[in-house]
Amino acid sequence: MTDWKAAFTTTFGAPASAVSAGIWADVYGDEYPAELDTYSFVTRTDLRDIVAGARLEPGGRLADIGCGRGGPGLWVAARTYATLTGVDIAETALASARRRAEAMDVEATDFQIGSFSDTGLEDASFDAVMSVDALLFAPDKRRACEEFARILAPGGRLLVTTWDFDGQPENRPPQVPDHRPLLEAAGFDVHSYEETADWRARQRRTGELSLERVAELAAESGADPAKLRASIELTLRNQDLMTRRVLIVASRP
Ligand SMILES: C[S@@+](CC[C@H](N)C(=O)[O-])C[C@H]1O[C@@H](n2cnc3c(N)ncnc32)[C@H](O)[C@@H]1O
Repeated sequence: MTDWKAAFTTTFGAPASAVSAGIWADVYGDEYPAELDTYSFVTRTDLRDIVAGARLEPGGRLADIGCGRGGPGLWVAARTYATLTGVDIAETALASARRRAEAMDVEATDFQIGSFSDTGLEDASFDAVMSVDALLFAPDKRRACEEFARILAPGGRLLVTTWDFDGQPENRPPQVPDHRPLLEAAGFDVHSYEETADWRARQRRTGELSLERVAELAAESGADPAKLRASIELTLRNQDLMTRRVLIVASRP
């Protein structure tokens, strides 16, 4: 199994890929939030849905777990006038997120090391917790749901995009067929569990274009083209085990 902390630390230690950004723009068109340097399948519609579902008041406290380079959380914080705490396992991602916060002129931000099982955040200290396309990497999804519940204040809102799986993908942490039982066991009321638009075709097309442009991607990052090809092919095979990409809206009573 890949050491994900090491892998993401390397990924985010390099500049965002211009070739990948071009592929995402081709596939997602206006839905691709190019200015945020995302490392995910997040769309502008997802981001707007997260803002609506979070119900944050100005000055509200938002956490983004698995924040990567910080773009999605900063976008939501900027629109809701919330304070933002981003958490990730990769210090290189956090360094990039801090620079982005300055560039986007979003004040009252904090980016710190932590994981889904141990965020390092205080009990009941957030009005909303979001996580974009990262829960897939949590080794223990039940523990992650309990951690979301622990850090949310009563009435706090949870907004997550992630995938349900029918089977265990290769070289990935254990997956689940449905996140709702785990969320309910952790004490959440699940308000909505909606498939995101056209997710399968878009992800497949992104993978296919990445294969077509694998030489450019490898040249850009200095990766071995054969290893990069194998990794894209594995991602495509694993996508066949995904049954849905969902945007989850839940709250803690
Ligand atoms: C696909 S990226 C998504 C990043 C960001 N949310 C975005 O939309 O651009 C997955 C993120 O999850 C982080 N991650 C992986 N395993 C994690 C864990 N166990 N706990 C917290 N974050 C983790 C990675 O470092 C990476 O930033």
